[in-house]
Amino acid sequence: MNKNPTHIAIIMDGNGRWAKKRGLKRSEGHKEGGKTLERLALHAKNLGIKYLSVFAFSTDNFKRSEEEVNYLMDLLIYYFNHKLDTICKDNIKVVFSGRKENLREDVIKAMENITKKTKDNNKCLLNICLNYGGREEIVDASLKIIEKLHNGLIKKEDINKNTFYHYLYQDLPPIDLLIRTGGEKRLSNFMLYQMDYAEIYFSDLYFPDFWEKDLDAALTFYKSRERKFGSVKTD
Ligand code: IPE
Ligand code: IPE
Ligand code: MG
Repeated sequence: MNKNPTHIAIIMDGNGRWAKKRGLKRSEGHKEGGKTLERLALHAKNLGIKYLSVFAFSTDNFKRSEEEVNYLMDLLIYYFNHKLDTICKDNIKVVFSGRKENLREDVIKAMENITKKTKDNNKCLLNICLNYGGREEIVDASLKIIEKLHNGLIKKEDINKNTFYHYLYQDLPPIDLLIRTGGEKRLSNFMLYQMDYAEIYFSDLYFPDFWEKDLDAALTFYKSRERKFGSVKTD
């Protein structure tokens, strides 16, 4: 049996379909998804999970209608500002992964505020992936490395698959368990570098319907997996 994972990642998918099924606007699904994330983050923290990465908005989600994009950005600002006290009380540290470009000024401001206010919290780290793409992250990390090499700040020999992590948006441990809700069985460009040996749990539930007990079920699945990392098990 495995221990609980150190790092869980969630592709929070299915908000739109959750709303559609109820004859509601897609935005209602995002609102409900926000509440679900709140509950899951608290539950994960209480279970002793150290790192939780969530996919909140992908670089490709800008292809959606302006109305939907703006609603999502307003919702994020609402959470960052209004839930700040709760997040601090819960001792959760919030960090972000993704590109700043194309994000509204007020969103960036709210992100900076919550990062600053929670920086000393240490019970659980919540990595919010916002305007995030996995391939973009690898490209951005490579560009940082190239610049440092150019400026003579590092040597070619300093770069390997472990030190590469230092150049990603956040220097976090590899993902142990990836959960994707909403029934799709794909990665949609999420945390590709960190996902190398992640166990993957797909749930047909739409994200707003994925509750604490469902996270428990994902953890039971994870604990039952035999992680081999390429080796052969000797019994
Ligand atoms: C995930 O739910 C949330 C975001 C991508 C922001 P979707 O909005 O993708 O919901 P579906 O997949 O259309 O149901
Ligand atoms: C992935 O979901 C992005 C987020 C959950 C934020 P999408 O709904 O954008 O992914 P695709 O388009 O179904 O692959
Ligand atoms: Mg989707």
